[in-house]
Amino acid sequence: MQQLLYVSVARTRLNPQAVMQLVSSARRRNGLHGITGTLVSSRYHFFQLLEGEGADIETVFGAIRQDPRHRAVLQLGRRHTLTRLLPDEHMGYRWADRDDRNAHLGAAVTNMVRAIGDDDLRVALSRFARIEQLA
Ligand SMILES: Cc1cc2nc3c(=O)[nH]c(=O)nc-3n(C[C@H](O)[C@H](O)[C@H](O)COP(=O)(O)O)c2cc1C
Repeated sequence: MQQLLYVSVARTRLNPQAVMQLVSSARRRNGLHGITGTLVSSRYHFFQLLEGEGADIETVFGAIRQDPRHRAVLQLGRRHTLTRLLPDEHMGYRWADRDDRNAHLGAAVTNMVRAIGDDDLRVALSRFARIEQLA
């Protein structure tokens, strides 16, 4: 089992309704591939955790990386794990409400991780992304 974390830059200005549409089709496909995780988006960035078997992560992340809705897809970490952080979410979704158009990727990640309400998940993901001051 593996976990993969990445950040990317949206090609267009996002809003939660538009991203929800992307998430609902992602959920269907993730169910078929046994992928769980969560997506956080802001006006101009995406931050996503993918969890699943290595081959399934390859397939899904391979498609995600080529998706024209974003660019500069930067993998922040990939690791083996025995347990999932989000065993029941085929793709959770959280919105980080801040205009981060001109934010550099580090600041964008910090902002999106802050938007995760669940303390354990926020701590786990900030450690994984190596933003220790948020943990
Ligand atoms: C930020 C972002 C996150 C995405 N997350 C997922 C995901 O978790 N699972 C998934 O199947 N597709 C996800 N997609 C959609 C894929 O990029 C792609 O459109 C979808 O897998 C269909 O791929 P295909 O056109 O090669 O069949 C995401 C797209 C974006 C832009």
